[in-house]
Amino acid sequence: MLILRSEIDGTRVRAIDELVARGARGPSGRPVTFVEDPSHAEVVLHRPEFDRGRLARSFCGNGILFSDGEHWRERRRIMQPSFPPRDPDHHLQDVMWAIPGFVRRFEAAAASGATLGVVEETVRYTVRVLYRSVFGQELPEDHDRVKVILDYFDSIGGVLAATIFPELKLDGRSMSEIRMKASAMDAEVDRLIEVRRAGAAAAVEKGNDALGRIIEQVGDADGGVGVRDEVRSLLVAGAETSSNTLGFLLLMLAAHPEARTRLEREIDAGSNGASPFLDAVIFETLRLFPPVWFQTRETTAPVTLGDRRLEKDEMVFVSTALIHRHPDLWSEPDSFMPERFLPRSEGAWQPPHRYAFFPFGGGRHLCLGRHVAMHELRIAAREIVGRFQVDLVESTPLAAELGVVLKPDRKIRVRVVERERTPR
Ligand code: HEM
Repeated sequence: MLILRSEIDGTRVRAIDELVARGARGPSGRPVTFVEDPSHAEVVLHRPEFDRGRLARSFCGNGILFSDGEHWRERRRIMQPSFPPRDPDHHLQDVMWAIPGFVRRFEAAAASGATLGVVEETVRYTVRVLYRSVFGQELPEDHDRVKVILDYFDSIGGVLAATIFPELKLDGRSMSEIRMKASAMDAEVDRLIEVRRAGAAAAVEKGNDALGRIIEQVGDADGGVGVRDEVRSLLVAGAETSSNTLGFLLLMLAAHPEARTRLEREIDAGSNGASPFLDAVIFETLRLFPPVWFQTRETTAPVTLGDRRLEKDEMVFVSTALIHRHPDLWSEPDSFMPERFLPRSEGAWQPPHRYAFFPFGGGRHLCLGRHVAMHELRIAAREIVGRFQVDLVESTPLAAELGVVLKPDRKIRVRVVERERTPR
C-alpha cells in the first residue's frame, strides 16, 4: 500500500470524505482535529502555537516547507529575494522557456494519434520550470526525472497516511520500496547541488536562483544537511502542485464541453491582456482540487480553537479541500462552475470569507511560488486549449490519488487532436 486511489464522482473525490469520516490519529495517539470552518483556519494559519510539527519533518527534513519558528524565518529570509512579491513576473522567462517543449509533446501526440499520460506530461513541464527558476538548471524537454519525483511523492504520501491512519498498514515490501524511492531522490538532490556548485549555466546567467542563495548562505557547517533539506522542500513544494492543477484543469474541461467552448472563444479572441474566464477556470480547478488538500499543524502549547481546547502536541489538519466545498460558503459546491469567479458589475469577485478560498495557504507560510504557479497555469492552459482538443480516453475513468498532494490518477491518459479555431 503506497498510493491511495479514489474515484471521482462528478467532481467529488470520494476518499477525502471517507478519510475524514474515519478519523485519524496523530503521532501522540490523540485524534486529529479536521478544521472545516474558515475562521478557525485563519486562527491556525496565523497563531504561533500552531507549528508545522514533527510528523512531516521526520520524512522530509527541516526545509522551508516543513519547518517553523526561527529556523524557518531564516530560510524564508534567504529565499524570499528569489521570489520577489513586488515582481510577479520574476520567473516568467523560465515558464516561457519551458512552454515550447510542453506544446511539442502535444503536437507529436496529435500527429501520431498516441495517447498522453496527463500526470507524466504536466509534471515533466513543471519540473523543467522548477529546475530552471529555483535550481538554475536546464533539463531537456524529454528528461527522465519524472519517475524519481513521482515515486518519492508516493512514498512520503504512503508513510504519512500509514502514520495517521494506522489501519492502512505498510508491510515489509512497501517499506523497502519506500527506502529505495527515498534513496533515488537523495541521489537526485545531491546531483542538483553538485551541478549548481559547479556553476550551472542558467543560474550563472540569472544570479539569484534560490539554490544558489541557499548554498551561499546555509553552507556546509552541518555536513550539507541544511542545503539538502531545502532542495527536498523545494522539490516537494513546486514539482507536483501546479502540474496537478493543470492536469485537473484539462480533465475538467474535457468533462465540461460548455466551459471548454467558452474558454476556446476567449482564447481565440486573442486578448493579450486579462483573460477573465481562463483565470476563473484556474480558480475553480484550484477550489475543487487543491493540490495541498490539507495543511498540517501541531500545537506547541495549549490553545483554544472555537469552543475547543487543544492540548500541547495535538495535530490539526486545515482541510482546504473541505472548506473549498463547504455548503455554507459555496452554492452548488460540487459543481464545476468557473463563472462563480468572474468579476460582477459591482467589481471583482470577493470570497465569502478570507479563508473560504486559499489554495496557496495563508499567514506566514503563504506559498512563495504562487506567481510562478499562476504563470505556469495561465500560459500552458492558453497554449494547449488554444490549439488542441484534449479528451479523456474512455478506458481510463476519472480518478484521483491522495498523498502529500491531491493529483489525478497517474494512469489517466488523454487523446489529443488539433482543433479548429472559432471563426471571428
Ligand atoms: C498550484 C500550485 C501551488 C499550490 C496550490 C501551492 C500551495 C502551497 C501551500 C498551500 C503552501 C503552504 C503550506 C503550509 O502552510 O503548510 C505552500 C507553500 C510553499 N510553496 Fe507553494 N504551491 C504551488 C506552487 C508552488 C511552486 C511552483 C513553488 C516553487 C517554485 C512553490 C513554493 C512554495 C514554498 C517554498 C512554500 C513554503 C513557504 C513557507 O513555508 O514559508 N509552490 N504552497
